[in-house]
Parts: sequence; C-alpha cells; structure tokens
Amino acid sequence: MPARSPLTPDYIKHVNVRYHDAAASEYDSKWGIDFGPTGQQQVRGKFGKALGEWRAEPFGDALEIGSGTGYFSLNLLQLGAIERLVATDISPEMLSTLSATAGRLGLAIETKVTDAETLPFEDESFDLVFGHAVLHHLPDLDGALSEFIRVLRPGGAIVFCGEPSRYGDLLAVLPKRGAQLAAPLWRLALGASARKPDAAENGDGHELEPEVDVHAFAPSLLDRTLADAGFKEVRIGGEELLANVYGWAVRTLEHTAEPDEVPYRWRELAFRGYIALQRVDTALLEPRLPPSIFYNLVLSARKSG
Ligand SMILES: C[S@@+](CC[C@H](N)C(=O)[O-])C[C@H]1O[C@@H](n2cnc3c(N)ncnc32)[C@H](O)[C@@H]1O
Repeated sequence: MPARSPLTPDYIKHVNVRYHDAAASEYDSKWGIDFGPTGQQQVRGKFGKALGEWRAEPFGDALEIGSGTGYFSLNLLQLGAIERLVATDISPEMLSTLSATAGRLGLAIETKVTDAETLPFEDESFDLVFGHAVLHHLPDLDGALSEFIRVLRPGGAIVFCGEPSRYGDLLAVLPKRGAQLAAPLWRLALGASARKPDAAENGDGHELEPEVDVHAFAPSLLDRTLADAGFKEVRIGGEELLANVYGWAVRTLEHTAEPDEVPYRWRELAFRGYIALQRVDTALLEPRLPPSIFYNLVLSARKSG
C-alpha cells in the first residue's frame, strides 16, 4: 500500500522518533490512557472485536510493534491474554515510560528499541504480533508485514487496532476546526489561559503531527494488502465514531490551554464522556454500520499453519 506522504521513509522515521520522544512524558494524560479496570475493559473490547471473540486461551510469546507507553500490551498482560511480552518501539522515550509503568504494575516484560520494518528477532519466534495505532506511521507497510510473517510461528496471528480509516481521518478535521473556534470561550469558562506559543509549537513536537501519520486505510485495500503479504483469515472491523469526534474536539480544546490550568474536574468529566460515547458506538453503531464509516479499524489475520 503506497504511503500518502511525499516525505522520504528515513525522514518519516526520524520525525516519528522526535515527535514520540517529546510526547512520552505527557502521553498517558493527553490520551486518557488507563491501566486499571477502565483501560483493561477498553483493550479487552478492542482485542475481542479484532479476533471476532475474546479468546479463553492466552497467546504465549507476544511481540508488540510501536508499543508506546504500553496502553495495549500492559493491559493485555494484566488481562491474561498474553503470557510473555516483548514490547518494541522506534522511540526510546516511549519505551522507557512503558518500562517504568510495567515496574509500577509489577509486570515482567522485555523491551527493544527497533523499527517495525527490520525486526531483530529470529524467524518463527512469536505466536502473536500485535499493536495499537502504529501501522499508519510505517512508511513501508509491505516491508513491515513481511517482517511480521517472518517472525510469526506457523498458525500465529496478528492483531492490530486503532488504525485510522480514510473516512474517519477526514471526519476528524471537523471537530478539530470546531474546537479551535470554540477554544477562547472554553478557556474563559474554565479560567485557563492560552498556551504559550513556544510550548504549543516547539515544546511537545505537536507541530510534527501531520508528518508522523502516513496512512489512513480503506478497509478493502487493507484487506488486499494483508492477503498479498501472505496472511489468511483476514478480518477487518470498524470502531468508534461518536467517541472519536468527541475525543478530537476535547484534545484540541485542551491543547490550546496551559496544561496546568486545565482543571482536573474537566479532565475527569471529559474522560467519562468519552467512555460513555464509546459504549454507544459499540452497542448501537458498530453492529449496524460498515467498517469504513468508523474512525478506527481493527484487524486480525493468521499465518498458515
Ligand atoms: C500513536 S503511538 C501509539 C502508541 C501505543 N501503541 C498506544 O496505542 O498508545 C505510535 C507509536 O508507534 C511508534 N512508531 C512510529 N513509527 C514506528 C516505526 N517505524 N517502527 C516502530 N514503531 C514506530 C511511535 O514511536 C509510537 O510510540
């Protein structure tokens, strides 16, 4: 699948490291990442949707790609869905945040800084290769998929969730623009001052956001890409529509204010609203609408046994 970005692969990877290294320390609070029952329930829902059902049997050796701060993998470990985790990422800072969280949660893990497109692991050494919100950052998706097949044991699976769909990517522009317009009133209501330009433009790498995202996927094309890479039993589903429109609006508003001046109560209410809309999406919209309508795609597939 060709990247939509005109930038070179090396530049895209370099920007991904810069952007995610800068984002690591505030990443969990920016994205409302939770490692307690709420986060585990979210992750269980996504993983089950991708596979078609929640498996009673855990995956033995699991390799995560683009682990970030551990949202997906540390919750899956706590849920008992995987037994042994090797967490990888191109950003060293993301992985050191993940290690600290794993330590706090008492979870034994291995980490490795690596690019998804050249994995430093033996052939056929994992039962599961998985990730969340990472495939859309990879300039050479075909190269990465052939690495996933190589390191998987026969019959092994891939599971990826949180990948933006083409339609959802376009849709996200609306709440971002609306929130930018509403931001001065919102800050006034909360008594928060506007974020200082140097912090907003340079400090957290936010200005690099358009350069780190290189794909938004059409489900039918993604299906073909996986089949061409040699995967069988490809399943692609969609999730989150209302929750994402709301989530983009909230994050855009919050980004316009000095972080310390956004009241905790606001953050708490905003997060609850997001969880409530996720439930509405899951119960009412996902069973009725086609995957391409949703913001996020979830997928699974197998290597022949
Ligand atoms: C949007 S974040 C998602 C992090 C985490 N999986 C989560 O859901 O919170 C994407 C992650 O992919 C990593 N990444 C970007 N390009 C990569 C590449 N070429 N190889 C491996 N990881 C990459 C980034 O450093 C970042 O941690």
